[in-house]
Amino acid sequence: MTKIYPSLLSADFAHLGAEIQRWDALGIDGFHLDVMDGHFVPNLTMGPSLVKSIRPYTLKAFDVHLMVTNPDMFIEPFIAAGADRISFHVELEGDLTPLIAKAETHDKKVGLALNPATSVEKLAPYLPMIDFVLLMTVEPGFAGGQFVAKALDKIPEILVHDPSIDIVVDGGISPKTAPRAVELGAAGLVAGSSLFAGGPDRYRKNLAALQRATGRP
Ligand code: DX5
Ligand code: ZN
Repeated sequence: MTKIYPSLLSADFAHLGAEIQRWDALGIDGFHLDVMDGHFVPNLTMGPSLVKSIRPYTLKAFDVHLMVTNPDMFIEPFIAAGADRISFHVELEGDLTPLIAKAETHDKKVGLALNPATSVEKLAPYLPMIDFVLLMTVEPGFAGGQFVAKALDKIPEILVHDPSIDIVVDGGISPKTAPRAVELGAAGLVAGSSLFAGGPDRYRKNLAALQRATGRP
């Protein structure tokens, strides 16, 4: 069954605890937390202290997506704050092996994120070292970005290299775009704007529609 992770980027930041509790009650698989540093992407979001403050509101996994230029500085603080899964970008310069090893020493799931324009060749050498791939289907930086359907073609390409790797698709996921991602082999989906559309009264319906689109009865 394809996992579904609401992205808190689309939540009401003034009431994050309540937002988390609403989704938790609906049976999602975990929360996606977008961390942006105003340098790797042109936006700023949340730091470790915010993650620590919201951690008590759910027992579900926190999937922390680091869109930062210097993950070395942030991996450990976010793990200490309560991240269960942590990813950073393959577009970063240099060898990412030490960073992957650092996250792994804490016994957390480690992923690499891949922008729409980035090729699978850049990711391939790291596949044996990581637990999951966060495949971006929007340019990172904001919720509600333009869905890049072509990026989904990388799912089978990645699975050729490693048939058992977990691929989570992030960006522009809706009942319209999800079926193709699932058909190609996505193990998980991150969704912001489509799940939060219409506010809390719509969450149950929005989630049900997305679950149906993934083939869940
Ligand atoms: C984009 C983030 C995504 C985003 C998804 O920079 O990494 O996780 O919140 O939001 P939607 O579903 O609105 O594209
Ligand atoms: Zn994300």
